[in-house]
Amino acid sequence: MKKKCAFHVLGCKVNQNEVEALKNIFRKEGYVVVPFHEKADVYVIHTCTVTHISDRKSRQFIRKAIKNNPEAVVAVTGCYAQVSPHEIAKIPGVDIIIGTKDRHRIVQLVEEVKEKNEILNLVDESKFYKEFEELPLANPDRARAFLKVQEGCDRYCTYCIIPYARGPVRSRDPESTITEVKKLVSQGYLEVVLTGIHTALYGKDFADEDVDLSWLIERLAKIDGLKRLRVSSIDPDDFTPRLLKVMTENPVVCPHFHIPLQSGDDRILKKMGRRYTTADYESLVEEIKKRKPGAAITTDIMVGFPGEDEEKFTNSYKFVEKMPFSDLHVFKYSKRQGTPAAKMKDQVEPAVKNERSEKLIKLAEGKFSHYAANFLGCWKEVLVERKLENGYWEGHTDNYLPVQFSAHGDADLGCQLVNVCLKKVEGKKIIGKI
Ligand code: 5AD
Repeated sequence: MKKKCAFHVLGCKVNQNEVEALKNIFRKEGYVVVPFHEKADVYVIHTCTVTHISDRKSRQFIRKAIKNNPEAVVAVTGCYAQVSPHEIAKIPGVDIIIGTKDRHRIVQLVEEVKEKNEILNLVDESKFYKEFEELPLANPDRARAFLKVQEGCDRYCTYCIIPYARGPVRSRDPESTITEVKKLVSQGYLEVVLTGIHTALYGKDFADEDVDLSWLIERLAKIDGLKRLRVSSIDPDDFTPRLLKVMTENPVVCPHFHIPLQSGDDRILKKMGRRYTTADYESLVEEIKKRKPGAAITTDIMVGFPGEDEEKFTNSYKFVEKMPFSDLHVFKYSKRQGTPAAKMKDQVEPAVKNERSEKLIKLAEGKFSHYAANFLGCWKEVLVERKLENGYWEGHTDNYLPVQFSAHGDADLGCQLVNVCLKKVEGKKIIGKI
């Protein structure tokens, strides 16, 4: 009988990618991966700490694992583990705490902890982390491959806990990255998504100044057989002229730009420690739209940062309203212990944050349908990710429109690029036909 392990992941794309790598590490050691609600010998909870809600959810899933099988080894990994190991150690039943390092040792630690009767806590201070930890290649999604090329952040925005959780900037070796992408392409992947904690800082830790994100994109875009290269998220001040050029002129690079705005009020941006103004943001978006008119621009926006009164929120709302966003990710500011914003006066009431968040979520729906309407009646290539239970196929266009479509016959369209005629918008997706 093979030993069973089960996983639950919270948070960002990097976490999603890392948990797949953890699964592979266990598989290599002879384990079989089972669903989280089943009885397993080992549970891994890969946590997130970006807001207090992430912390709470992380704790809930730790408790769930312990309840599913009190005899199992329970390992807690990721950002919440890194920042709050002592909180986690207080939960009876937790056996292993690993932060954002030493993850490749996880199976060995599971064996070790069985012999002992105490918690193994491997978290030490993230600022001492120096090397990029290459985890095994892992992708659950057969259509798109997510590739983590960068770790850590040194920006220290005043609201953000992530630099403390992930440590300093480290980048994946460029040659190993190129080899990895070639391997992904030879396995049949048509799209590669470059991810990182602050992806645009790629190469900042290299001696060779020329090797940065734009260099990497240029090299990867030349790989034969790679049809789409997507870049996950880039801050407005990270767009160098060279990066703007490679991202708008290279046909392999998807016309999709996720550019976190955080607030549309300059005084709040300053208090957040962001390094741009709304005017800078606006001219960047204009420049992108000039070079790539149909490009999708998406953003992260936060409500309820300390000092955001009605007037500042209205400014922010109006700025978002006038920008040509195709989608918004709305966050309610959450106080994070140890960050400068946690000590700021004028914290905003939760009820006010809820109300503002709802307003922006509503705005996001309108923004999506407005943008999507430009493509109705057009044929667009969709990279098919899966078949749904209702018989429809589902995937994304290069500009990240989620499309569901019907097709005649029973050919397997999975992982293929298919030409689809876009017919109508339904909520936050498009219905099409081939
Ligand atoms: N509270 C709420 N949202 C946050 N984010 C980062 N820190 C916080 C916080 N303390 C959001 C930002 C970022 C996204 C990934 O998470 O909007 O872009």
